[in-house]
This record gives sequence, structure tokens and C-alpha cells, in this order.
Amino acid sequence: MTLDGKKILLGITGSIAAYKTVGLVRLLIKAGAEVRVIMTPGAKDFVAPLSLSTMSKGEVLFDLFDERSWANHVMLGRWADLMVIAPLSCNTLAKMSQGLCDNLLMAVYLSATCPVVVAPAMDEDMWHHPATQANLGKLQSYGNRLIPVERGELASGLIGEGRMAEPGTIVDWVTDFFKNKSQFSGKKVLITAGPTHEPIDPVRYISNASSGKMGIALAKAFVQRGALVNLILGPISIQPDLQGITVSKVQTAAEMYEACMGLWEGMDIGVMAAAVADYTPVTVSGEKIKKQNGQWDLELTKTQDILLELGKRKNTSQFLVGFALETNNEREYALGKLAAKNADLIVLNSLGDQGAGFGYDTNKITIFDKQGKEHLFGLRSKDRVAADIIDTIAHTLDLPKSLKG
Ligand code: CTP
Repeated sequence: MTLDGKKILLGITGSIAAYKTVGLVRLLIKAGAEVRVIMTPGAKDFVAPLSLSTMSKGEVLFDLFDERSWANHVMLGRWADLMVIAPLSCNTLAKMSQGLCDNLLMAVYLSATCPVVVAPAMDEDMWHHPATQANLGKLQSYGNRLIPVERGELASGLIGEGRMAEPGTIVDWVTDFFKNKSQFSGKKVLITAGPTHEPIDPVRYISNASSGKMGIALAKAFVQRGALVNLILGPISIQPDLQGITVSKVQTAAEMYEACMGLWEGMDIGVMAAAVADYTPVTVSGEKIKKQNGQWDLELTKTQDILLELGKRKNTSQFLVGFALETNNEREYALGKLAAKNADLIVLNSLGDQGAGFGYDTNKITIFDKQGKEHLFGLRSKDRVAADIIDTIAHTLDLPKSLKG
């Protein structure tokens, strides 16, 4: 069975979709999972606890404590392999984003050490409200996953977005989650991300507009699939959640080069997503350079190409991925880089596409492999693009496939 021995903690909140959780528990149990159920007080109005305790073959928990006992919320969060909150109401979503703790479900959520996934359910207008979307964004920034809402008839009778995903879809997601988790199990992955700063003097440097978002999304996605990730991160302005990732922060191309060379021999996969400066000043002034009359010629020298060097040192079992950012002759240049740098895949970013590239949260890529195949993808979130890149790596390496690409 696909979920054999997996421990699932199901949190149910007050939403009309709660009636579907009886079917959800049944499917999870049928797939081999062990399920424990926690309900918010409001959820009891929508689904009978007796049905859920019968289905899950255990006591349904509601209260932090009653006159007889205290529910050990810390142990519940540690017991589970995955906490699924379905349906997630607008109210509980807001509490989760704020860290409020006024019921057992919230106490377990806040103390859970296992991954958490939510399946929201609400009316379309509530779903689209900026407060809801901001709260969801916060949850995702805490590392919580999201099972997207579906479109269809809502409790209000209106047709729109906001329906909780069907129990079958949730079980597929959960199965996929556990499958993905072991896809790169034990594989060591080296990732570079962000720009580099090439100092001119103590206050000036040469750099570019890379945000680091693509490389960070890749690092997180690899960790979720069981890999051990070393991220060599250039200077960035965002403060991402880098839980589970071994991070080395560097400033210059030379520092990034040294960090990569020191690690490469022990790595299985390298993904060079950083926008490394191609040139660096020949000399760095110890003092701030004062402006002069007329023009200033700054002498630059080429930095060492990390991808090129890793390609040279690559052994037969190592796998190397490079990026190319082109504005013209995209295919030709990308294929040129694939060959010249001895990479196994080149991910081409098309800067010409609206919403793609530096600074954006979305990206549009084409992946070229050594067999001459082109993998085309549409404009997608950088998280989704990371999944596409990793799926292509897994496919090329012939690793077990994830259920939904
Ligand atoms: N790269 C690197 N080290 C460098 C420069 C680039 O590892 N010093 C890597 C990038 O991380 C990326 C790929 O090489 O994976 C980009 O190739 P590159 O030839 O540098 O592309 P451009 O910087 O766009 O250069 P060009 O002007 O040749 O197109």
C-alpha cells in the first residue's frame, strides 16, 4: 500500500467541507496510513466526531485539556510524519499566520516538528481577499505546503474558486509527498544562487540584479525530496527560510569558486544557478576612491568560471546543471554552453518573456539535454520551475518518478 506505516495527523476546522473528511480518513486508512484526528471546536458543527473516531479507529481530540486530562500537543506533533489541515478555514488560516494558540489544533500546529500541508476551503470572495492571500503567503514562508483549492459549486451556491480539493486529490498529494521525499534520498547536491559582489573600494562594488530566488527554490525543493543540499549563496536582500539546507554565504566570485571547488568531489549533483560576475576589478582600493574630473577607466579581469571548472573535474557518476540567460540566439548559445562547459543539462531563461528572469517570482525556461532533447515549459512560479528542473534531473538520472511531475 502506498502509505504503509505513515503517520498522518489530520486537523479539521470549521468549514462546510469538513463533511468530506470522513471519506478522506477512509481513503488514508485504506492506503495504509495511521490517522489521528484533531478538530477545532467549530468543526464539530459540520461533521460528527463519532464518524471520524469510527473511521480512524481512535479517539478524536478537541481540547487542550478537560477535567480529566491534558492533551500532549508536543508529542502529537512529534508522532506524525505529516500534519494535514483539511479543510482549512479562513479563521484558522489567520490564526496560523499570526501564531495564535487558543485551541488544541493551534497548539499542535505551533509545536509540530513534522511537515504541515493545508487544504483551504472557503467562499470565492474570501479566497481572493488580499488578507487571505497574504496569510497564505505567510504560511508558505514558514515552509507549510498548500494543496490548491478547486473551482466548482460553493456552499453559497455560487460557482467559483475556493472549494477544498477532493479527498482523492488530497490522498494523491500525500502519496506524492512521501514518494518525492525519498526520490533523492542520500544524494548530495551543490547549488549556487544569487549574485556576487566584486568590490571596487570599501563602499562600491560590481554586481547584477539576481535575487537568488530561483536557486533557493531549487535548494528547498531538493531538500523536500530527500537530498542533502549545500547552498553557496551570494549576497541577497531577501531573508528566506533555509531550514534543512547547509548554507555558505559568500560575497565574491572568487569566494564562490573556492567554496564550490572544496565541495565538488563529494557531490552527486551540481546546479549552478548563481549569476556570477564575469569580471572583477583588477585592484581593490583600501580607501574610498574620490571622484576626479573627466572619465574613470576601471580595469577589470575575468573571474574563474565555476561551471566550466566543475565540468572539467566532473567524474562519470556526477551530474552537472548550468543556467543560461540569453536575449538572442537563445538555442544556439544554450547548446554552446552545454557542450563547452561539459554540463548534462542547461536551463535556458528567456529574458524576452514578460515576468521571467531576475527579480520576478515567475520564470519561463527551456531545458536542453545532452541527447539533443528540448524540454519546454510555460511561465510558472519559481517553485514550480524548481520542480520542473528537478523532475528533468530525476528523469535523466532514471530516478523513481514523482506521481505528478
Ligand atoms: N557561471 C559560473 N561561474 C562564472 C560565470 C558563470 O559558474 N564565473 C555559471 C552560471 O552559474 C550559469 C552559467 O555559468 O550556470 C552561465 O554561463 P555564462 O557563460 O557565464 O553565461 P553568461 O554570464 O550569460 O555569459 P555570456 O556572456 O557568455 O553569455
